[in-house]
Amino acid sequence: MSEHPLCRLDDLAEGQSKGFAIGHDARYADIVVVRTRTGIYAYRNRCPHTGASMEWEPDQFLDYSGTAIQCGIHGALFRIEDGYCVSGPCTRKSLQRVAVIERDGWLIALEPLEQKA
Ligand code: FES
Repeated sequence: MSEHPLCRLDDLAEGQSKGFAIGHDARYADIVVVRTRTGIYAYRNRCPHTGASMEWEPDQFLDYSGTAIQCGIHGALFRIEDGYCVSGPCTRKSLQRVAVIERDGWLIALEPLEQKA
């Protein structure tokens, strides 16, 4: 299993989301990470509705309240804590979780991530 350093933990504030591109030629983020009061949550940046990338703008994955991940295409809402879709065209489906660890002040993704076509 390969490791993918994403960012310094200090660079991800509570209430913030960030996208990270793993592939060298990736035009869109492969991973979305959200930090909340309860922890850090990471998912593949693929909406279960169409497989599209979800950010409204770079690093903008949350709804206006900051309490859910919102797909920028058709507005599906996902719980931050488990990626479960509670509203929208893919209700009851879930985002795919990405395993992350914290080490020496860095956030590191552990999943073997395939490159986007
Ligand atoms: S592509 Fe995400 S809700 Fe349609």
